Amino acid sequence: MSAGNTANVRMRVAPAGPLRGELRVPGDKSISHRAVMLGAIAAGTSRINGFLAGEDTLATLRAFRQMGVTIDRPEATTLVIHGAGREGLRAAPGPLDLGNSGTSARLLTGLLAGQEFDSEIIGDASLMQRPMGRVVEPLRLMGAELSCTEAGTLPLRIRGGAKLQGIEFAMPVASAQVKSALLLAGLYADGETCVSEPAPTRDHTERMLRMFGVDVRAGGSRICVNRQPLRATDVRVPADISSAAFFLVAASIIPDSDLLLTGVGINPTRAAVIDILRGMGARIDILASGTTTDEPVADLRVRYSPLRGIRIPAELVPIAIDEFPAILVAAACADGVTVLSGAAELRVKESDRIASMTDGLRALGITVEPGTDGMTVTGGVLRGGSVDSAGDHRIAMAFAIAGCRASGEVQISDCANVDTSFPGFAGCLAQVGGNVAELRQ
Ligand code: S3P
Repeated sequence: MSAGNTANVRMRVAPAGPLRGELRVPGDKSISHRAVMLGAIAAGTSRINGFLAGEDTLATLRAFRQMGVTIDRPEATTLVIHGAGREGLRAAPGPLDLGNSGTSARLLTGLLAGQEFDSEIIGDASLMQRPMGRVVEPLRLMGAELSCTEAGTLPLRIRGGAKLQGIEFAMPVASAQVKSALLLAGLYADGETCVSEPAPTRDHTERMLRMFGVDVRAGGSRICVNRQPLRATDVRVPADISSAAFFLVAASIIPDSDLLLTGVGINPTRAAVIDILRGMGARIDILASGTTTDEPVADLRVRYSPLRGIRIPAELVPIAIDEFPAILVAAACADGVTVLSGAAELRVKESDRIASMTDGLRALGITVEPGTDGMTVTGGVLRGGSVDSAGDHRIAMAFAIAGCRASGEVQISDCANVDTSFPGFAGCLAQVGGNVAELRQ
């Protein structure tokens, strides 16, 4: 196990007046990971602008440097990747430590299954407990030689030199990480690799593979690739809608707020948070939309609006899966009851998010009923109190937003991992009128 991010960071958030102004949140985490991975195995030089300089994506970057890829970083958010080509990676000198990053671990497992050399993947205490069986099992069906713990967790050892064979795989869970791992392995397999998803999941891998010149065939819910080389390209990473979500909620629940969030990725397989919040009565306008390379982007204007509780539509759950910590804070401030179900995946994220949100919202005086695959939140008055983020970046940020609206100060412990996805979060919140102190020891 890696030491992980051991810094002791706490946030103290006091009630705030309106949030106003313009903000560009950091680059999209999912797209940044994929840009590094595909750039590394492409032939030629790729330039990545708007890269997320967060701990998770930096873990991916370090892993490829350890495998011999030259990646220059002329600015914190700009990468120049000198692609090694599809067969050009080489064995890392030791285990690849992917910290807190599930995306790095799952996608890399697929990519490394097709290499000629052995690899080992480890991570921090949270990542070492997260399920890897969901990628290990289908990759074994492709002929990969992998070993993990009996519980299906890291450390994961990948034997090089396995001959991969394409498969037809129907995913039992709607997971973009599983889909992506199999498509990446498919670039090294004989024959065709096809993945079907039970519900739409983020399609960044398919879009970016095409940008790198790969023939991806998609029809309905089935996506197929063959063994083929990749051609370098330039990528502009949009601002991360999952990070913007905290500000969509904050401005919606704090009277008189009016925020403009610029350059946000609004890929339809990611943007359900907008639909869910609008369904609750939020006032969000999509302005000035366009595309950044192959991803739709827009400026989002969000203004305060009274919210009401809703039953969250089942089909939106997988495409808003990372936004539920923020959405549940909106539910806590809404009039009436919000019901979330079909979200069992929340139990195996960076923390058990159903448990962490239940504990935190209850600590702030909200009535919450957890269930196995979701929870019921009765809107009320948020009061001050102490919340444990369970080392989960999105839980920490959700409660920081709650603190802006609460009647007293909210103290949040174990916040170091905010840096995994949103370095500078506290500064951004303060910039638009939040009353937040970050205490690093
Ligand atoms: C991600 C997919 C999602 C999401 C994660 C990032 C990705 O996980 O929760 O934060 O980049 O592919 P699952 O695919 O496991 O649902």
